Amino acid sequence: MKYIYNISLPFLIIITNLVGANLIAQSQTNERAQWFVDARFGMFIHWGVYSGAEGIWKGEKLRNDNDYAEWIYYRNRIEKEEYLTLLDRFDWDSIDPEEWVLLAKRAGMKYVTLTAKHHDGFGLWDSKVSDYDVADYTNPKRDIVNELAEACQKYGLKLGLYYSHWVDWEHPYGWDHTKEIYPITAEQYDHYWQEKVIPQMRELLTNYGPIGMIWFDMWIHHSNSIVTKAQLLQLKSLIRELQPDCLVNSRLGLSIEEDSDVDYRTLGDNQLGSKKLDYPWQSPATVAHSWGYHTLDTQWKSTTTLLKSLINNVSLNGNFMLNIGPRANGDVPFEISQRMLEMGEWLDVNGESIYGSEAFDLRKDLHDWGKITYNPEADGNHKLYLHVFNWPYNNMLNLTGITTKPKKAYVLRDKLKSPLSFNHNEVLTEISLPVTQPDPHISVIVMEYDQKPQIVDGLVAKTVDGGYSLTHENRISEEGDRLIKRAERGGTIPEHILINEKYQIRWKIFIDKPGEMIVDASYSFQGEKPRGTLSVKTAGSTIKNDIIPTGKTVGEPNQNWQIDNYSSNRIGAINFPEKGLYEITLEVDAKKDETILFQWLWMKGK
Ligand code: GLC
Repeated sequence: MKYIYNISLPFLIIITNLVGANLIAQSQTNERAQWFVDARFGMFIHWGVYSGAEGIWKGEKLRNDNDYAEWIYYRNRIEKEEYLTLLDRFDWDSIDPEEWVLLAKRAGMKYVTLTAKHHDGFGLWDSKVSDYDVADYTNPKRDIVNELAEACQKYGLKLGLYYSHWVDWEHPYGWDHTKEIYPITAEQYDHYWQEKVIPQMRELLTNYGPIGMIWFDMWIHHSNSIVTKAQLLQLKSLIRELQPDCLVNSRLGLSIEEDSDVDYRTLGDNQLGSKKLDYPWQSPATVAHSWGYHTLDTQWKSTTTLLKSLINNVSLNGNFMLNIGPRANGDVPFEISQRMLEMGEWLDVNGESIYGSEAFDLRKDLHDWGKITYNPEADGNHKLYLHVFNWPYNNMLNLTGITTKPKKAYVLRDKLKSPLSFNHNEVLTEISLPVTQPDPHISVIVMEYDQKPQIVDGLVAKTVDGGYSLTHENRISEEGDRLIKRAERGGTIPEHILINEKYQIRWKIFIDKPGEMIVDASYSFQGEKPRGTLSVKTAGSTIKNDIIPTGKTVGEPNQNWQIDNYSSNRIGAINFPEKGLYEITLEVDAKKDETILFQWLWMKGK
């Protein structure tokens, strides 16, 4: 072991104070993170000694249902010296990091993040701080970080480095979960920190040119770990000192809420965005399940699914970083490279809707056909990109909520921008689509406006088949007691609200064609006989119905599993005399102790 630096504790405290006084405000406009926000799509690379094991050690599969191949050293309790015998399987002549960068480029990715040091503690660069690195086990010496850095420079991609700071299975005082049973002292841990983490980070930030981001990986808050906040701040301030433009992610162990100087939030593994955030964020994702190469990993997501994940995140202001786990000879598994190349082909045509684009103001998941992104300055125009995940069977796309009349609509793939005809009606734009979907995965319709499209918020959108689904989620207001119950038992029991007495809920819809509409309500009522009432009020009329028993159904055959039935009950029909905005009110008058479980109202023209 040749640890060279030894920084003392008082020094650490001084750094902490400096950082505390110097917080930089965090928001979507964080200048340092602007390139990252625009980039939207990046590559993660998990490659290291574990790649030689391919998820199997001495004939035994990785010991954990969460098959992360890069955890094999820890999971299968491998001896440190024996672990390195895996390096015998590496074919150094064919390992070429430039090929990974080329793949990233062709996939339309704008940055690459390599596991410079994963939890096993083995460095992929020539570290003077530790003997446990690639340069000490190759002849001639290899420095993978350097090779990757040069390739990134050559192809114009940003370089990110993953560094496992909290966990290190190599250093005697690095964190290893076994230490929950055989503890070490805070002082011992600080030895590891000052002898390995700080000086190695100094090497990475000094010897490899500009580093776009350091990707830390502590997925719990520091207060639940051995790492102290002071140590984390010391690390962050070293980065700020050596490379002020380098981004730091929230898996440093400090949340953005706690320290606004953390540049972006990293969500959980394979966790996609579910809401808009006003600061940069990212989902790390795999094509199958494992990060490091695992020969038994077979859950390949389709190219379409991966593109939908990317689009979902951009539609909520987020980033998507997709992983490759190359093999011991450097090859990227075909199932991964094929999908990435297909994503690249799609982005070649449709990239305008992703890079530099952002969330639009309408409510997330307003439309049942797909997702919207927005670019306020696409060649002098304001453009909305309608990503049609589900091509409407009637080739008519209903865009609800925008009052501004579009200048033009066209298919993004169509270089001639041949106009699609549309009908703009107050807050509803109906676009006539080509009969066949033009793109292999997801087609994008561009809506051009000469100003920022203005919206009416809170509307329930018209579905592909011309109806309105009114749920607790898309209401505008409510009064009275109720309890929200999430879906249960694999969704057999749907999300619903539990109503005990008087309750009122309201929605807003736009009616474009006057006339009669049928109204159905889905609920479950387990009383013996009809009790209480349910009324729908709108357009000057009220229809009132008894709440009727809905009985039970079977969840799974032969499992003695009976569940409350939710049935669609016809409430009646309502006439909407003219086009315009209407408020719909549902009033539930349940009897005390005879609960009604309400799910949705459905309205559709006759
Ligand atoms: C987890 C795992 C790790 C993987 C990472 C990727 O933190 O411990 O193996 O590198 O997630 O997001």
